[in-house]
Amino acid sequence: MTGQREQFRSRIGFILAAAGSAVGIGNLVGFPVNAAKSGGAAFLLVYAGFVLFICIPVMIAEMSLGRHTQRNPLGAYNSVSGNSPLWRIGGWLAIITPFMIAVFYQVLTVWLLAYFVGAATGNLEAMAQPDYFGDFINSGSVFIYLLILTVLIGLVLNSGVQNGIERLAKVLMPTLFVMLLALTAFGLTLPNALIGVKFYLVPDLAKISPQVVSNALAQAFFSLSLGMGILITYGSYVSKGDSISGGAKMVALVDTSVAFFAGLLILPAIFVFNPATDPAELSTSSVSLVFTFLPKIFLSMQGIVGYFAANLFASAFFLLVFFAALTSQVSILQVPISAFQDELGYSRLKSVLALGASAALLVLACTVSFGMVAFFTNFLSYGGADKSFFDLVIDVFYDTILPLNGFIVCLFVIYRWKKVNMNAELAVGDSEFEQSMAKKYIDFSLGTFIPVVLFLVFVNTVCLKFLGFSLI
Ligand code: PFF
Repeated sequence: MTGQREQFRSRIGFILAAAGSAVGIGNLVGFPVNAAKSGGAAFLLVYAGFVLFICIPVMIAEMSLGRHTQRNPLGAYNSVSGNSPLWRIGGWLAIITPFMIAVFYQVLTVWLLAYFVGAATGNLEAMAQPDYFGDFINSGSVFIYLLILTVLIGLVLNSGVQNGIERLAKVLMPTLFVMLLALTAFGLTLPNALIGVKFYLVPDLAKISPQVVSNALAQAFFSLSLGMGILITYGSYVSKGDSISGGAKMVALVDTSVAFFAGLLILPAIFVFNPATDPAELSTSSVSLVFTFLPKIFLSMQGIVGYFAANLFASAFFLLVFFAALTSQVSILQVPISAFQDELGYSRLKSVLALGASAALLVLACTVSFGMVAFFTNFLSYGGADKSFFDLVIDVFYDTILPLNGFIVCLFVIYRWKKVNMNAELAVGDSEFEQSMAKKYIDFSLGTFIPVVLFLVFVNTVCLKFLGFSLI
């Protein structure tokens, strides 16, 4: 590509954009669901341990590789390895994975937009009915929301890194923080909320099993947007004057804090709804929690605050999650876009259009795989269950490939690019890095136990998802 590579305008812009990528459905919904199922604060502690000791080093490795090479993931792997065909596999995986994650994330984001509109137009009563969700996802209106969202995202991406992504994050992220805190504070004033707080914050260590530990790592990885080339790509837009390790720590802190507060919002709300809630009943998926369980909870608030305020609360919640999903979705799509620009020399507009065209069919296939089209609904059968096309995309790209990509990035950075080169890049814009504890820890861990742990999680997930048994 000719011309200067785009850059984030400011350090805070970069941190908000990276936090915008990280903070998403995973934090606001996935984390509370996991915490509710797996011992509350006990899960939080395991999760925080993974963020600190495994995820932050991987994040730093990805960002430094991006800034050093000034490339998308494919270009980064190629340029450092001298076009080695073996390492190129890592580059391709780091392009294809975000592309496929974007496909299923788009479907969830569409539903969030529709639920926001539903609550904002006073429809909560209908939304809380048991059949509403199933009917909605199989109705024609999904396609209208899909079109609106696709155009919106296309416009942001076409405006570029500074004017699109950075500007969006600078507006939406602070709004999101304020909304999250306000909703949490309000939720905590409702009767019985404290039962939920206690349930969340008193750790139940008996719930921690090897499977919960493995889930916590997968959750942390997804939540921080690791293993999918995003941070390599965002790293390539970071100025040489900024500290990468400082930025990574800030992003991890923001991401984990948002997850923590989301737990403090959702768990008490559940107990406001029904003080006798049996936590075992919460063992549903995140999707059913947000779209079938939460509308019921919000509706139940009408007894305390009235129907209008219940709709208002629900619409604020869905808008919050929608904003978080939108900034994440934009970040995921920026990866293939930067690959089109760098590798094929496409203009930004042409890249956005090429991406839209190639993703459209896959998104449609996911959208109709909840009953509309039998072929995609009963797509395959493996691991002892029938799976739709949507399930397949999640099982392969969210559950399985992420830890594999993380494993590859660690090996690549430490053994191919080499530690000294990574450290030299990390010292740029950060005069204290050389002497820091962080450097010593990263030096030791990235080439040793972190890839081992990631590889084990990958193998276990393959066994669990596709072969129907668990190693642990
Ligand atoms: N980190 C986002 C979340 O927690 O929802 C999701 C996400 C964003 C996943 C970007 C993958 C990604 F590339």
